[in-house]
Amino acid sequence: MSTQFSTALRNFRTQRGLSLRQFSQVVHYSPGWLSRIERGQAAPTLALARSCDDALTAGGKLLELARLETRSRLRPAQLPSAVAGFVGRTDALRELDDALADAERTGKALMVAIDGPPGAGKTALTIQWAQRAASRFTGGVLFTDLQGHSHQGRPADPMQVLEDFLAALGTETVPDELEARSALFRTVVADRHVLVVLDNAINSQQVKPLLVGSASCAVIVTSRRRLTGLGVIAGAQRLSLAPMGPQESIELLRGAVGAKRVDAEPDAARAVALRCAHLPLALRITAERLATHPRWPLSHVADELSGAGRLDALADRDDDNLAVRKVFDLSYETLDGDTARAFRLLGLYPGGRISAAAAAALTGHPLARTRDLLDRLVAVHLVEETGLDRYWMHDLLRDYAADRAAAHESDAERFTAVHRLTSWYTLSVDAANIALAPQREVPPLEPPPPESRH
Ligand SMILES: Nc1ncnc2c1ncn2[C@@H]1O[C@H](COP(=O)(O)OP(=O)(O)OP(=O)(O)O)[C@@H](O)[C@H]1O
Ligand SMILES: [Mg+2]
Repeated sequence: MSTQFSTALRNFRTQRGLSLRQFSQVVHYSPGWLSRIERGQAAPTLALARSCDDALTAGGKLLELARLETRSRLRPAQLPSAVAGFVGRTDALRELDDALADAERTGKALMVAIDGPPGAGKTALTIQWAQRAASRFTGGVLFTDLQGHSHQGRPADPMQVLEDFLAALGTETVPDELEARSALFRTVVADRHVLVVLDNAINSQQVKPLLVGSASCAVIVTSRRRLTGLGVIAGAQRLSLAPMGPQESIELLRGAVGAKRVDAEPDAARAVALRCAHLPLALRITAERLATHPRWPLSHVADELSGAGRLDALADRDDDNLAVRKVFDLSYETLDGDTARAFRLLGLYPGGRISAAAAAALTGHPLARTRDLLDRLVAVHLVEETGLDRYWMHDLLRDYAADRAAAHESDAERFTAVHRLTSWYTLSVDAANIALAPQREVPPLEPPPPESRH
């Protein structure tokens, strides 16, 4: 099927009197490949379009056509996969379905801001819903973690997010000014049916430049805070997600631990749920402990967690935090020495996501050993695996790990670990620099500490 680009390419080439073979020698692509492109059987990359444009002196016309085609072909699909074993939240899912149906009926843009306490399941709910709704958005789904919760790490910069979104939509060059960049984003998505998911926002200011007002698009924002500003700026609907109800919590435990075991001890199951403050985050960690100890009665774990129950008299928020801490303690205490140390050192890393190689530098262990330690942490839900060799730690857990590190690692040990990590990053950047621009002159680096040479 010929396209505007393929037709223009053939016309320019024949006008210049070049055979495919002659043309191939000038642009350094095989004649077979060029022929497929001319017949519209393969899509041109922008690099190929640029070479052809130069070789045929097409004055930018070929490049422009390739750009247009690349853009219309691109359908970003950035959603992470849905949480395995997702349960409940039927009301919230229905509310989102209704909001979308309403928006479609009235021709207005859908914008929803979901707030709720840490670990309540805002991200899980959003991804679950977005996965189901994704097929309605023919222009694709954009997703970004705005990193608004990290205490040490920096929240995502809207400038960078816009650049990434625009790149995902096939726009190569972006303006340097925030307002212009934001306007370009709105223009690019204006006639597309795109779902934008802005996860873990810190405040309305961070989100504002990323909003799209066109009726064909939808935006879902999650945050621990109520983004009241968004209601004012953009008329966003608010959905507050509380911790789970008692029945949903039991459902979560049944899914993760096994229905038979949970149903055999209904009182203990209710006590476990209550002592996890009905927070999915705490429930999942506790369920994992139960799953790894198939012979433990639920009442045993309920007793273990009862330290948290004593705090019932305190205000809800503190109670939640303390309950969660107790849940973390119990999992942490089961770790063997090396795994516990790796967990503590991960708490020194300010970002949420880390590669296995960076974690190896932090721990000072070889890569294979570090992967093994990370796998152990993943198995008890203290760390999550987000992709090949990529890991993520919930910020409540990171704070907890940092706290353990402050208590159990000497100043020198912590300093050395961070030094190993920063050296590893510096060396990685240096290696990338040499690979990308070998001609660029940079002063030689000091040799790294021995443990970080993988
Ligand atoms: N409905 C659910 N069913 C099963 N597991 C869930 C559910 N909701 C959340 N979880 C699990 O609970 C944990 C915390 O959920 P999530 O990260 O979505 O919370 P959050 O509200 O986005 O937290 P934060 O405020 O830190 O962003 C995750 O491990 C997730 O897999
Ligand atoms: Mg979240």
